[in-house]
Amino acid sequence: MTTVYKLPSDSATIKTEVVCPTDANPMGMLLGGRLVEWMDIAAAITSQTHSGRVCVTASINKVDFIAAANIGDIISIQAKVTRAFVTSMEVVVYAYSKKVLTGQKYLVSEAYFTFVALDDSGKATAVIPLKPVTQEEKTDYHEALKRKQR
Ligand SMILES: CC(C)(COP(=O)(O)OP(=O)(O)OC[C@H]1O[C@@H](n2cnc3c(N)ncnc32)[C@H](O)[C@@H]1OP(=O)(O)O)[C@@H](O)C(=O)NCCC(=O)NCCS
Repeated sequence: MTTVYKLPSDSATIKTEVVCPTDANPMGMLLGGRLVEWMDIAAAITSQTHSGRVCVTASINKVDFIAAANIGDIISIQAKVTRAFVTSMEVVVYAYSKKVLTGQKYLVSEAYFTFVALDDSGKATAVIPLKPVTQEEKTDYHEALKRKQR
């Protein structure tokens, strides 16, 4: 039987980076733009894995910078599709920072990205539906529709 949906875990992505001096401001703090770039790539990998298509960023709905990361920290970026609509997908991305010497890990940013799948001629094309499994995924799934409507 043909699968008519995919699970969030099928395309969930973890991308790891280390904060280098060229990623930081003169105070040694990770630049927000660099972090969003890394988050965008993780979300792109996730949406492309879900859809099996090349995808483009249509919007970045909301980015919260919750805490600072510093040179030398290890950044772990977790991306997951919350909902597939017709041709677009919402991807939630969390970025965590870890201090190498202590192992202390904390949330530095979260954001919602919308990606659109493209066909071979560059037009928006339909994607496979997403079936949420866990309670958190089901909540995200319902909230994603409200965010799209807003
Ligand atoms: C995103 C893009 C493909 C949409 O193309 P379009 O012809 O306007 O497509 P449509 O109006 O038919 O919309 C297609 C889907 O995109 C969604 N969409 C379009 N613009 C959006 C936006 N700003 N935010 C969120 N979703 C958006 C629509 O809601 C629709 O979703 P659905 O099919 O799941 O219901 C097109 O605007 C584009 O190529 N933008 C540039 C993308 C890019 O270069 N990104 C890199 C940033 S530099």
